[in-house]
Amino acid sequence: MTIIKTASAESINDAAQRLRDGDLVVIPTETVYGLGANALDGKAVAKIFEAKNRPSFNPLIVHVADKHEAEKYAVMDDRARAVAAQFWPGPLTIVLPRRMDSGMSDLVSAGLPTIAIRVPAHLTARQLLKGAGIPVAAPSANASGEPSATTPQHVIDSLGDRVPFILADGACKVGLESTVLDLTGDTPCILRPGAISAEDLEPLLGTVVYEHGETEKPKSPGMLLKHYAPSVPVRLRAVDVEKGEALLAFGSTRFMGVKGGGFAKDLPEDSFRNLSETGDLHEAAANLFSCLRALDRPEHTAIAVMDIPKTGVGIAILDRLERAARGR
Ligand code: TXA
Ligand code: MG
Repeated sequence: MTIIKTASAESINDAAQRLRDGDLVVIPTETVYGLGANALDGKAVAKIFEAKNRPSFNPLIVHVADKHEAEKYAVMDDRARAVAAQFWPGPLTIVLPRRMDSGMSDLVSAGLPTIAIRVPAHLTARQLLKGAGIPVAAPSANASGEPSATTPQHVIDSLGDRVPFILADGACKVGLESTVLDLTGDTPCILRPGAISAEDLEPLLGTVVYEHGETEKPKSPGMLLKHYAPSVPVRLRAVDVEKGEALLAFGSTRFMGVKGGGFAKDLPEDSFRNLSETGDLHEAAANLFSCLRALDRPEHTAIAVMDIPKTGVGIAILDRLERAARGR
């Protein structure tokens, strides 16, 4: 049985103690829920890989309470410090050379000489990290290959009894996994787009490139893996709806017709979701994984997705949708 506790001073203490004891704890963050373990304890970290069925070559993100903690485990240069000063706490993970004598479990980095580290902004996560006094390795709290969990219910649906304890704190505000920024080379490189975009980073870093992960040996091992794809096809940039399709809308659907007659507004409730009626990209990001899960039903021939602007967090939304469309 999974214990689910709503975040409070008491349950945060309980969760901190469990982490120190080497147990798994599902933690809320502003991006997605994380499956956390003490990053200094190899046995605890191994439980993450087992519960998620995650390949051991895929390294984990380490969560710390503040940038001083980050310095203990990662070698931060001026660029890293500048980015951390502006975007931490927040939905940004930085890949840096790791300190070899820091006590960090080797499993965390999956054999790489680097470490991915972030200071989350979520209040509960921050209190937990401070209270636990240890760095917490945490991938998204979903079985490998499934969409990230943005509510406690998603965690239960995906991992069920494989997680002993969930610190529950509602739906995640950002809804997409953090931006992963690689600062180990001369040119800053985004390995995974997120709410913080290249445009946001360029004033501090100059040119930032985006590695799509389609190369044979991507810098982010996770990009090699098959990503979430619904059990029905995903059709992008739809301008109308075919009979039998579900519609994932963005913005006004006034002009969306259903082929053979009818309008989007006439679709059955289970076949229609709108990421954001007002066309707000941040709202769309927060709703993306819930909407995809809701429309992933065998009676649909496909999920038609309306076009989403390729700017700001729209780039990250399109990245997840393109992976969903390709993944089958
Ligand atoms: O928002 C997030 O980042 C969430 C929350 C819980 O913080 N975590 C998350 O973790 O999305 P995960 O494990 O699902 O994704 C981590 C990504 C993977 O693609 C992994 O390959 C990459 O970061 N990564 C981790 N360490 C790395 C490293 N040292 N070098 C390159 N990529 C790394
Ligand atoms: Mg993940």
